[in-house]
Amino acid sequence: MELAGKTVVLGLTGGIACYKSAELTRLLIKAGATVQVVMTDAATQFITPLTMQALSGRPVFTSQWDSRIDNNMAHIDLSREADAILIAPASTDFLAKLANGLCDDLLSTLCIARDCPLLVAPAMNRQMWGNPATQRNAAQLRADGIVVLGPDSGDQACGEVGDGRMLEPEDLFEALAGFLQPKLLAGRRVLLTAGPTFEPIDPVRGLTNLSSGKMGFALARAAAQAGAQVHLVAGPTALPTPYGVVRSDVQTAQQMYDRVMADVANHDLFIAVAAVADWRVAQVAQDKIKKSGDDDVPQLTFVQNPDILAAVAALPSPPFCVGFAAESGDLEAHGAAKRRRKNIPLLIGNLGPATFGRDDNEVILFDDAGQQRLPRADKQALARLLIAEIAARMKTHRPS
Ligand code: CTP
Repeated sequence: MELAGKTVVLGLTGGIACYKSAELTRLLIKAGATVQVVMTDAATQFITPLTMQALSGRPVFTSQWDSRIDNNMAHIDLSREADAILIAPASTDFLAKLANGLCDDLLSTLCIARDCPLLVAPAMNRQMWGNPATQRNAAQLRADGIVVLGPDSGDQACGEVGDGRMLEPEDLFEALAGFLQPKLLAGRRVLLTAGPTFEPIDPVRGLTNLSSGKMGFALARAAAQAGAQVHLVAGPTALPTPYGVVRSDVQTAQQMYDRVMADVANHDLFIAVAAVADWRVAQVAQDKIKKSGDDDVPQLTFVQNPDILAAVAALPSPPFCVGFAAESGDLEAHGAAKRRRKNIPLLIGNLGPATFGRDDNEVILFDDAGQQRLPRADKQALARLLIAEIAARMKTHRPS
C-alpha cells in the first residue's frame, strides 16, 4: 500500500472534471491514503457530496460554518493532519482566488491557512486557460511554490479542442504519489535498461527470454518519484511508460547498446535491468526459413552481443553503475563473481525463474562490503527500497 499513512485533502471546485475526482479518490483509497474531501458549492452542482463520501469513507465538508468540527474551525483543523492538499478540478475562478489570497469559502480559506504543500489541477475551457489573466495567476501560483499539475491538451467537454483538460485520474495519482516520496535523487540523471531483447532469426522468428520488464519499469518509476530525470531504454514489452519517464523502445541488444552509449554522457546513475541476449544469429535470413524436408534442420551460428553494462562501466568517467544478475541457482557465488567481473560498485542478484513475469521479487545486494539479502516484496515497494539503497551508496561512492 504505497500511500499507507498518508493523508490527502482533496478539494473539488466547479467543473465537469469533478467526475474524474471520483475515480481519483478510489485510486488514493486503494493505495492506502486517508482522503478528506472538501467541496465548493459549485462543485456540488457537478457531483454530489454523497458520492464523494461513499468513495472516501469520510464525511465531506462544504461549508465554513459546519458545526461537526468541535471548535468550529474546519478551515484550520482539516488540513493539519494532511501531507498535501490537492485541488482537482481547480476552476479558473479558484486559481484567481488562490493567486490573490482571497478566501470567502471553506476550501479557499483552508488553502490560505494550510501548513502543508498545495497542488492544483486546472480544468477549464481552452480560452479560459489561455486568457492572460489565468496565465498570470498560474505563474503567480508557481512562484508562490504551489505545484500546478497539467493541464492536458485534447477534446473538451464544450466540444472545443485545446489546452485546459484536467489530467486523467491515473496521472494525478502518479503525480501526487511521486510528490509524496522523499527526493533521494533530486537533480540526478538516471539511465536504465529494462525488459528482454529480441534477436531476429528471419523476418518472422527470433530469440528472446522471459523477462517482463516489470522490475526495470518499477525502478524507473521509483527513480522519477525520487526526483531524478529518467531515461528508460526498453526492450519489447507492452508495459505502460511510468509517469514522468522518457522512454526509448528498442528490439535487439545491439540497438540497446547503441541507444545507451549515445545517451550515457552526463548521467549520474546507470541501472542495467534488461535481460540482454548474450548472442545473436550471425546471418539473419532475408526471407522466412522454409521447412523443406524431414532431416533438413537449419543450423544457426551465433556471435556475441556487446556487453552494455561492462561497456558503460569501462568509460573514462562512468556513472554509478548498478547491474542485475538473473541466475538459475547458487546466487551467492554467481552474484559476487559477476560484480567483480563487470567491475561495478553494486550488483542486485535474483533468481530468474522466481522473478520473471511475477509481481514480487527477492534480491541480494552485492557490494564492496559483502552481501545483504532483502525480504521478498512487491516489485514497486522493492524498487523504492532499492532506490534508497542506491542513493545512499552514491553519496559515499569514490570512483576506483
Ligand atoms: N548485461 C548487459 N549487456 C549484456 C549482457 C548483460 O548490459 N550483453 C547486463 C544486464 O542488464 C545485467 C548484468 O549485465 O545488469 C548481468 O546480466 P546477466 O545476463 O545476468 O549476465 P551475463 O554477463 O550475461 O552473464 P551470464 O549470462 O553468463 O550469467
